[in-house]
Amino acid sequence: MSSIKIESLDHEGRGVAHCAGKAVFVEGALPGEIVDYSVFKKKPKVEFANISKLIRESPHRATPKCAYFGICGGCSMQHLDAASQVAAKQRVLEDALWHIGRVKPGVILPAIHGPYWEYRHRARLSVRYVEKKKKLLVGFNEKRTRYVTDMDSCKVLPRRISQLIPSLKALIGGFSIKSRLPQVEIAVGEDADLLVFRILEALNDADEAALREFSIRHSIRIFLQPKGVDSIYPFHPAESGPLHYALPEFGISMPFQPSDFTQVNFAINRALVRRAISLLRPSHHDRIADLFCGLGNFTLPIAKSGAQVVGIEGSASLVRRAQENAAKNGIKNANFIEADLFRMDAQRFDALGRFDKMLIDPPRAGAAEVVEAIGKNPPSRIVYVSCDPATLARDANTLVNSKGYDLQAAGAVNMFPHTSHVESIALFTLPEVP
Ligand SMILES: C[S@@+](CC[C@H](N)C(=O)[O-])C[C@H]1O[C@@H](n2cnc3c(N)ncnc32)[C@H](O)[C@@H]1O
Repeated sequence: MSSIKIESLDHEGRGVAHCAGKAVFVEGALPGEIVDYSVFKKKPKVEFANISKLIRESPHRATPKCAYFGICGGCSMQHLDAASQVAAKQRVLEDALWHIGRVKPGVILPAIHGPYWEYRHRARLSVRYVEKKKKLLVGFNEKRTRYVTDMDSCKVLPRRISQLIPSLKALIGGFSIKSRLPQVEIAVGEDADLLVFRILEALNDADEAALREFSIRHSIRIFLQPKGVDSIYPFHPAESGPLHYALPEFGISMPFQPSDFTQVNFAINRALVRRAISLLRPSHHDRIADLFCGLGNFTLPIAKSGAQVVGIEGSASLVRRAQENAAKNGIKNANFIEADLFRMDAQRFDALGRFDKMLIDPPRAGAAEVVEAIGKNPPSRIVYVSCDPATLARDANTLVNSKGYDLQAAGAVNMFPHTSHVESIALFTLPEVP
């Protein structure tokens, strides 16, 4: 056993140190700490280790609230205090922008952060029946394994959903198809919650009766999913309207269906939309593109400024939802187009007409094709919302170093507290022509 000083945190929340030319990743160790460590896995240039003794503790160490911390793969940073988590994410963003993108933002925006517990309005829990132990597990997967965590609560799920886990285990454990039900999805709206049970075989009459009783007793809507996401249907109540979330600042209510993409953290999403709109500065003179628009989370607030907005999205069902949501909110100045933005090129981009401003909110893969396609008629202002600093940095490099934009500002968004996931927002502008 030997001592080592931790230098930094890696993207999975592990402490990183160096010893004899090797990088050592120490589970649960924090920068500045000195630990004795025991190696559990060796590779030629790296070692993976656990702490065997904490010799000097970081002042930023926090006591994890969750009983399953260290086992559950859901949150890996609970041992770091809230302010330091945000600072670490801000650093990940700045490092990526510089080391991958070779760009530095003019201004670092104050990080957007909010509730640290009970924030997850959407989650996918795995279900596993362990025949040998005659035990049914419902939970997130364990850290770096495919085993399901044996958990009875979760501090990042809304309390009423967390409290449901033991009853959910008992319910599914009594089903005839308990080993043919691999997952339960949770979707929480402003005033109703629902569960989607993925079933690989049909429920029998007794299962159905128990499920109906569970739905009534816990006031929760139940959906079943026998095949792909298109097969999801309401089981109880049989007629079930959409859930919704609100963006009160913009007077918007956003209905959504269980399979729709929605931002998981309502409070942070509200702050993110507010920040995006203040950076974009939409006005009624503008024609604005909202790329990867989903169900209209940014499109509808942009439209409230009076600008003409075009939302572009790859999923046909989300385009339909965005159109319905615009109509439901009385918005007439937003149009939606279904298109594969990973196949964008200069010709297709030009064919969309000139945009004064643009918002981009791509999936983790980023928006390489979109930023490459910007050509003859570039928008003067681009707000980029990112869920992966590496692809943001790559696209920032294109925007700054080949398309002539300035990276005015960037900042982290703590959408998923206690996880190492880094969401961020950046503003690019074209220099004014004198
Ligand atoms: C991070 S989500 C953002 C959604 C929306 N802006 C929001 O805030 O709810 C990314 C969106 O990109 C869409 N998407 C994924 N791949 C796409 C593609 N190749 N072309 C167009 N849209 C795509 C997804 O369906 C999803 O709605």
